[in-house]
Amino acid sequence: MKLAPSILSADFGILKEQVQEVEESGAEWLHIDVMDGHFVPNITFGPVVVKSIRRYTKLFFDVHLMICNPEKYIEEFVKAGADSITFHAEAVEDIEACIELIKSFHIKAGIAINPDTDVEIIVPYLDMIDMVLIMSVHPGFGGQKYISEVDEKIRYLRKIKGDEFDIEVDGGINSQNIAHIIGCGANIIVAGSAVFEDDIEKSIAALKEASNI
Ligand code: DX5
Ligand code: ZN
Repeated sequence: MKLAPSILSADFGILKEQVQEVEESGAEWLHIDVMDGHFVPNITFGPVVVKSIRRYTKLFFDVHLMICNPEKYIEEFVKAGADSITFHAEAVEDIEACIELIKSFHIKAGIAINPDTDVEIIVPYLDMIDMVLIMSVHPGFGGQKYISEVDEKIRYLRKIKGDEFDIEVDGGINSQNIAHIIGCGANIIVAGSAVFEDDIEKSIAALKEASNI
């Protein structure tokens, strides 16, 4: 079980300090939300920011690309220090080619699906990837409410893939619902507002306690 705080909700003026606080508080991964203003109605940052923070932490960099044509930018994110790259099934024409490109850099590859996307479209690729990211809000913004209809997708994937597969859930997770989502079969939990809106250390401790991670 791993906690992946999303820097989408961080204070970018003191990003280095906040990332280091996340690491010192015992979170395992850092979730990095890249948005292009096309695939989602919001813009965040690109590889240059990832490269800048890479120098200050050993956290596993879990890069979530919410962008059109992700294959154009994968190499740059690898060079910037990504340990894992997850792209959206809805954003590419050729899912297999995108997986192969990520794997050619010897990092972990994941596929993300939006709340309204049928989980069956990614099933043919599960043996080629390291992780599935189930979006539990419509991507674009932090601080939204968890969409409980995705519970069934998590349960289904856990059932067909068994215990060794990473299932990450992203959006609307807090200390009230984290245990339920883990109970459905998630083992990597993204949390943005629930980590950064209050004291980071206390918030991570509260999430871990609520989930028994
Ligand atoms: C949403 C992003 C999420 C977001 C989660 O588009 O992919 O990673 O930061 O934020 P919270 O935890 O606030 O829902
Ligand atoms: Zn995300």
